[in-house]
Amino acid sequence: MTARKIIIDTDPGQDDAVAILLALASPQEIDVLGITCVAGNVPLSRTETNARMICEVAARPQTKVFAGRSSPLQRPLVTAEHVHGKTGLDGPDLFEPAMPLQSQNGVDFIIETLRAEPAGSVTLCPLGPLSNIGEAFQRAPDIIDRVQEIILMGGAYFEVGNITPAAEFNIYVDPEAADIVLKSGTPITMMPLDVTHKALTTPPRIAAIRALNSRVGDFTADMLDFFERFDIEKYGSEGGPLHDPCVIAYLIQPELFSGRHINVEVETQSDLTLGMTVADWWGVTDRPANALFIGDLDADGFFDLITKRLARL
Ligand code: BDR
Ligand code: CA
Repeated sequence: MTARKIIIDTDPGQDDAVAILLALASPQEIDVLGITCVAGNVPLSRTETNARMICEVAARPQTKVFAGRSSPLQRPLVTAEHVHGKTGLDGPDLFEPAMPLQSQNGVDFIIETLRAEPAGSVTLCPLGPLSNIGEAFQRAPDIIDRVQEIILMGGAYFEVGNITPAAEFNIYVDPEAADIVLKSGTPITMMPLDVTHKALTTPPRIAAIRALNSRVGDFTADMLDFFERFDIEKYGSEGGPLHDPCVIAYLIQPELFSGRHINVEVETQSDLTLGMTVADWWGVTDRPANALFIGDLDADGFFDLITKRLARL
């Protein structure tokens, strides 16, 4: 099996961090061409620092990390320190990473990579607001047809919203960018809250990660201990939803997931429902399908995969 070439576009974020660790632990299946950071959970200066920190925790300091957009395409930035803490990675003992930030802008890297690599050979994995991808598609429409697939975390239908009653955070922060992506015609797989809210960090699952008895295991368990407190309080759930690693797990073991090819559109106008993903799950319109909208996963298989892969780092 040849490793699939991906660009991770991210705003770490504890769950983004686990997604990055999972990808870096899986070189047989995944070739991380670069990590492009975007403002989201916390401002850009923190997301790019956090991404570099995670690469060092994974002992992969040669990974290329880029800074992209510091704001959404048309709106002021909304952040989520109330979920992720002031640093975005609250929980473990944090440190200043030594590995460099690449000097090239993250959006330029996305454009140049898609132009340089063979058409249809690079998959984009957005784990945050879609601002970098939106700008890349706007500035360089020639790259759209060259993307193999976009596998993103964002949106919700049955679970409706987490940042507002109607919208999921990543889509809400930059609905115009999400709209560009959803209308681009690129093959898209979406991991909405409908599936990520079934990927819960229960105490035995975190304990299995801590039992790895390694730097990566402790760092991850410390992040997840912090991360889950917010959702346990909010939803009364057993643990926190591990959103972003669903994207990477899908690349490695797609059979863990199931969904439907449907039409998904984003609300960009209404104040009340801004960023809502209107997903035609029941096929009640004749709007053409533009995304594989994932609805379910094998949660035990998912956490097993994460734990086994983290053990490799
Ligand atoms: C998404 O928002 C962020 O807080 C998480 O990192 C995830 O990407 C979940 O709504
Ligand atoms: Ca994220």
